[in-house]
Amino acid sequence: MITIRETTPADLAEIVRVHKEAFGYDKEAELTAELLGDASARPYVSLLAFRGGEAVGHILFTRCRIEGAETAQEAHYILAPLAVIPECQRQGVGGLLIGRGLELLRERGADLVFVLGHKEYYPRHGFIPDAGKLGFPAPYLIPEIYADYWMVQTLSETDFTQCKGRVLCAAALDRPEHWRE
Ligand SMILES: CC(C)(COP(=O)(O)OP(=O)(O)OC[C@H]1O[C@@H](n2cnc3c(N)ncnc32)[C@H](O)[C@@H]1OP(=O)(O)O)[C@@H](O)C(=O)NCCC(=O)NCCS
Repeated sequence: MITIRETTPADLAEIVRVHKEAFGYDKEAELTAELLGDASARPYVSLLAFRGGEAVGHILFTRCRIEGAETAQEAHYILAPLAVIPECQRQGVGGLLIGRGLELLRERGADLVFVLGHKEYYPRHGFIPDAGKLGFPAPYLIPEIYADYWMVQTLSETDFTQCKGRVLCAAALDRPEHWRE
């Protein structure tokens, strides 16, 4: 049985462990820790999934903006990173984290949610491939062959024609190395 809750600052070590185990290297864990301390990423949605008291998955949605849009009322987010420890992968934990995260964002009035990731995976959870073609270029240029990996979905009445422009992400994500394979 999987339970999911929002994280607190006391969860940082467990969050870092989940990302290190899931990815098998430290870069995503370091990025996650940095984003959690990044004022420009707030408000964020950060969720841990537990199985029998052990943290097995984590997801983070951080605030982003659309260049040139009137920002005051709009709330847009980027999903990054998502991690499930190897023993628990392919059992639906990632899907539960995405679903709960999107539900919370919808309740909190979010409009658009972006993700750069597996193009076979995220469309199952409502994301539409090639957000660039819909008018939302990524913070850094995504090569044409990977265009489908940059995705978007809308959680509100806002349709894709109301605001368009380049996506501006939180400072910790705003480095080219986070936008290439
Ligand atoms: C990608 C990831 C978050 C998915 O979480 P999950 O709990 O395993 O996913 P779910 O059980 O909800 O969904 C299963 C689907 O995820 C996809 N998937 C899972 N692991 C995958 C992997 N290692 N590579 C590619 N796709 C994968 C498959 O489409 C799978 O469907 P299938 O079993 O029918 O083939 C998890 O595998 C993970 O942490 N991987 C390592 C880190 C990573 O790549 N994070 C994502 C960055 S965009």
